[in-house]
Formats: sequence, structure tokens, C-alpha cells
Amino acid sequence: MSEGPKRGPEKPRKFQAIKGTRDLLPPETVLWNRVEQTANEVFTTFGFGEIRLPIFEPTELFARAVGADTDVVSKEMYSFDDRDETSISLRPEATASVCRAYIENGMQQLPQPVRLYYTGPMFRRERPQKGRYRQFYQIGAEVLGGSDAPAIDAEVIQMLMTFFDKINLAGTTLYINSIGHSADNCRRAYVETLRVALQNAKDKLGPDSQRRVDTNPLRVLDSKLESEQAIIETLPRIADHLCDDCRANYAAVKNELELRGVIYKENWRLVRGLDYYMRTTFEITAQGLGSQNAVCGGGRYDGLVELLGGPPTKGIGFAIGEDRLILSLQEGGQASQPQGRDVYIAWMGQRAYATAVRAAKNLRNSGLSVELPPSELKFGKALGQANKIGARYALILGDNEVAEGLWTLKNLSDGTQTKLAEPAVIQYLRENQRSSR
Ligand code: HAM
Repeated sequence: MSEGPKRGPEKPRKFQAIKGTRDLLPPETVLWNRVEQTANEVFTTFGFGEIRLPIFEPTELFARAVGADTDVVSKEMYSFDDRDETSISLRPEATASVCRAYIENGMQQLPQPVRLYYTGPMFRRERPQKGRYRQFYQIGAEVLGGSDAPAIDAEVIQMLMTFFDKINLAGTTLYINSIGHSADNCRRAYVETLRVALQNAKDKLGPDSQRRVDTNPLRVLDSKLESEQAIIETLPRIADHLCDDCRANYAAVKNELELRGVIYKENWRLVRGLDYYMRTTFEITAQGLGSQNAVCGGGRYDGLVELLGGPPTKGIGFAIGEDRLILSLQEGGQASQPQGRDVYIAWMGQRAYATAVRAAKNLRNSGLSVELPPSELKFGKALGQANKIGARYALILGDNEVAEGLWTLKNLSDGTQTKLAEPAVIQYLRENQRSSR
């Protein structure tokens, strides 16, 4: 009897990151850190403090705040039942959480308005493409409480543009609009007028827009479908339907922006995809992003805190898509350099090793980045390695150097060598580090 072919041990499965998620690696993460650090600095100068929020929340929070019929909630949320069978969702955005936190932590007792910012991952099950991911990162800010003075809208936008300037984001355009007052005021009347106009043109619309005529006519204005553009241009415009208060408010916001030297373009089709907005809405586009070119979106949402069980509270904020921001910076030539090292310690011999360990500690304590090979290498090989990782200097430590008390420092860009006593080495490198960074 013949035996069947012998099976070898099963090959372990190779895992891949889930579709729409990715690893962010060095040196690119240097750029991410710089962006976040700059946001922190700029936002602090405008009086904002950082809030850190949970990654998941009750599903009901997002359904209530963002809107159960929005694409974000109805199609894109990652929701699951917890062990006690309550439904939980990975956050698709953070404004709802900030409002929940404002209420839960009694922040209405603090001096108003409360200014908060956040950074972190958000989750939406969208179709991945350039600039669109299922786990993506936002840097956002919210102003809650106090008045709804147009100066607040303008200052939030000014802060955003200051930040984009500071990180040298090129080719930005700020678009603004007013979508009127919620439900019982001018917006409702406009939405009805829009619905009637859309009903008349329904057979010329694609299936998504046809559905939206009934569920959310405003979103039809967002459509990028080529065949719908001519029809959309003929639709009634919200600016012609604003009530007196909203019209005056919109004019005042524009005045306040001009006072601050913020350049904007008006876009009557800017309605945003989340239900909580009223009056001021805005978006910023940047270069090099293709179809997903909105690098930031935001607007006013008076009433949202109340909708979530809190007291009547004014609110306005924005969120920057950090992935898109980084893409745009990279397209504009702001690549991160590989990290390199200040010093590579090429050591040979056991006495030299003890000195090398001590030298590494002292150099790192003075802020230099150091590579200390874990096992002995011939000097030639060590210097090759030092070049490969982009070290600026090699510190050569053999038993001779240790006995003499004179260390050899080799400049790897021009090949020059200097002999220095231990304290002078640190001094020399420190001074050089300052002048070369
Ligand atoms: P949003 O417009 O849904 O607004 O998102 C803001 C920004 O996040 C977008 O402009 C885009 O840059 C980025 N973004 C959204 N989805 C993705 C994705 N799938 N992949 C990559 N980037 C994405 C909000 O989230 C509101 N919470 C903003 C806000 C704060 N409004 C008031 N306060």
C-alpha cells in the first residue's frame, strides 16, 4: 500500500492590515508629529485645551448627534454588540463625543466658552481610495457655550488658517456658506422649496440623489456626478431664502473674516454631510489630493448639546483630515528625511566596550541620538554600517583610545578625523548639533 504525499508543517498565515487601514512608519511619522505639535502650539495661542476622548461610544450617541439617516451613521459605522448587548460604535467623528463630555463633566459651570481640541483616529467604512481610509485621523477643535457672536465663527476659521500657514500647506482655498437656521426657521422652508424643485427634475437624477430628494434634499447639492451638475446649477439657492437674522449673521461672519484678513470664497452648495449644522458651514481644500481634496470641514451646531440632553448651548468647530493634510504636504515636497543618527560608536575590545556603553549614556543624556552596536564589529564593517544608517559622526573606540584617554571622532560627510578627550567630545558634538539643526 502506498502512503499519500507527506504534508509538511502548515505554513503560518501571513496577516495583512485590514482594508482601508495602514501602518504609519518612520520617517513619515516625523511629519505627523510635527503637524500635531504645530496644531498644539497654534491652538494653545487661541486658548484651546486638549481633550482626550474614548474611541468607542454608544451607537445611539452618533445616531442622535450626526443623524440616523446620514451616510456616516446608516452605512459607514463600525457597530457591534457589547457583552451586555448594548450597541457600541467606533467613533466616526468626535464632535458628538465632545458634546457628551461637555455635558457629562459639567463644563457648563466653567467660564464660557469652553475651547477644546483633539487628535486621533476615526472610523468610517467608506470605499478606500487616495485620501480616503476606513481608519483615518482628525485634528479637530470645538468652541462650546457662551455666545454665538459671528466673531467666534471668524476666530475659529482664523485659527485654522493660521495653522495651515504655519505648516506651509500650499494651495488652500477656504469655502464658506450659511445653511440658515435649523428646523423651524428659514432652513425648513428652503428645504421644502428645494424638494419641490428636485421632484420636478427627479427623472434626470442618479439613484443616490433620487433617494435623497425624500431623505435629505440638501445633500443633492453635494453631488459630484457629472450628469447632475447642470441641473443643480438651476436649483434655488439658500442665500436667497435666508431669514433676516440669518442673512445678517452671515454678513457679519464675512465682515469678521475680512477684519482678520482671512480670504474666503462663497460656495452656496456647501451643505456638509452631518445633520447637526446650522448657519455657518465651511470647508478647506488643498492641492495634490485628487477627488478627496477637502482637508477640513466644520461649522456651527447650536442646539446639539441640548439634543444630547444638556442645556441650550452654542457650538462651532471643525475637523482636519490629518491623512489628507500629510498627503498634501508631501505632494508639496515636504518629505521627512530618514532619521539618521548623530553618532555611531564603533568599538572594539572589552575595555573599549565598557567605555562605549558609558559614552552612549552621556551622549544621549545631552540630547544626541546614538547607535551603539550590540556586538563587536571590525572597524571597517562598523564604519560601513554607520554610513548606511546616515550617521553624521563615528566615535572610534579601540583599546588604544581608551588607554590614551583620547577618542577619535570621524566626520562621515568629509572623512576628517579629530582626536579629543572625553569631555571635549561631548562639548564638540553638542555645539555641532546646535549649528547643524
Ligand atoms: P467631516 O467633514 O465628516 O466633518 O470630516 C472632516 C474631515 O475629515 C474631512 O474634511 C476629511 O479631510 C477628513 N475625512 C473624513 N472622512 C475621511 C476618510 N474616510 N478618510 C480620510 N479622511 C477623512 C466632521 O467629522 C465633523 N465632526 C467636523 C466638525 C467638528 N464640525 C464641527 N466640529
